[in-house]
Amino acid sequence: MGKGKAVGMAFIGCGNISGPYAESVLAHPEELRLVGAYDLVRERAESFARKYGCAAFGSMEQALSSDDVELVVNLTIHTAHAQVTKRALEAGKHVHSEKPLATSREDGKALVDLASKKKLLLGCSPFVILGEAQQTLWKAVRDGTVGRVLYASADMMHGRIESWHPSPEAFYAPGAGPMLDVGCYPLNVLTSILGPVRSVRGQAKTLIPKREIGSGPKKGKAFDVTTPDHVDGILEFSNGAMGRLSASFVVEKSAHTGIEITGSSGTLRADSPVDFDSPVLFCPIGKRDWSTIPLLAKPYRGVEWSRGLLDIADAIKKGRQPRCSGEQANHILDVCLSILEASELGREVRLSTTFKAPEPVYK
Ligand SMILES: NC(=O)c1ccc[n+]([C@@H]2O[C@H](COP(=O)([O-])OP(=O)(O)OC[C@H]3O[C@@H](n4cnc5c(N)ncnc54)[C@H](O)[C@@H]3O)[C@@H](O)[C@H]2O)c1
Repeated sequence: MGKGKAVGMAFIGCGNISGPYAESVLAHPEELRLVGAYDLVRERAESFARKYGCAAFGSMEQALSSDDVELVVNLTIHTAHAQVTKRALEAGKHVHSEKPLATSREDGKALVDLASKKKLLLGCSPFVILGEAQQTLWKAVRDGTVGRVLYASADMMHGRIESWHPSPEAFYAPGAGPMLDVGCYPLNVLTSILGPVRSVRGQAKTLIPKREIGSGPKKGKAFDVTTPDHVDGILEFSNGAMGRLSASFVVEKSAHTGIEITGSSGTLRADSPVDFDSPVLFCPIGKRDWSTIPLLAKPYRGVEWSRGLLDIADAIKKGRQPRCSGEQANHILDVCLSILEASELGREVRLSTTFKAPEPVYK
């Protein structure tokens, strides 16, 4: 068990996103304690440990055998998530994984079942539904602002990852691509608010098959894109509402941003699916202009990377399930894979997963 009240954590994977996670964790010493970190590349774990004042574990076993570690934070690349999470659960640790939970339905389900069998908590990114703006959007829907929900749409036009990420190859390979890597953000919000998706259709294509790394030690190196880099999905939710979701590593600048939810009496909109301080707007049917809905609480600016960890740490202490659960993440994975399959098959694909709705933060 960790010292004091703070939940002790080990980070597995010390790449690009580990720094923002660590900075954010260090801002919450009462709740979260970074015990140590491990990376396949030893120097990465060592320089991370020096910078953030924690141990550098020499192996995964060492991280998993530390009694100070209650929660493993899986920040490895997409295709490593399932095996790292499995090992951590088998070692008796709670886990929060970066997205996707896994890259196949079989692995995703096996992780959810393993956590349940071992009575351990399994949480997974995205956790953006925990943001103040996204909670405000959700409460407005629950309060009947748009009436009966009929249609929802979302766009994640994420642009050219290789322009800023020093190791972008994994983002353009099977197991990632824009739907699994960033389409999951609005799916976290939409499925939390509207519930599970029943069936999907899709259109996915590789529009820029060769890319060039724009920064870091591999700058100038070309690589092949081996999974579609632009994906459009059509969703049918179990509650009967229709939806559309576009996710792209091609389109960058776009007026299509955010999430919209239309019901019998109007449309609600969050300008950004991810920023916790996104404006939330409402326009009733028959009116021309949006009006701003006040956020339920003072928002964090942008994305607070420790928000999902704070929730699962609280869940560990209270013996409840994390709000961003493995079960919901497994459904989101199923939605993403099904959209890609629907594109290949040229027909509708029905989903095989569902999940229990999370509890809102603001009732
Ligand atoms: N970079 C971002 O802005 C960002 C934002 C949100 C979420 N994420 C997610 O975070 C995850 C990591 O992204 P990143 O950008 O930090 O990637 P990255 O490639 O920069 O870092 C991944 C690290 O994991 C290590 N690793 C891989 N397999 C491992 C294993 N089995 N054991 C230990 N270490 C292992 C690699 O050596 C590397 O250092 C991805 O799932 C990504 O979707 C990234």
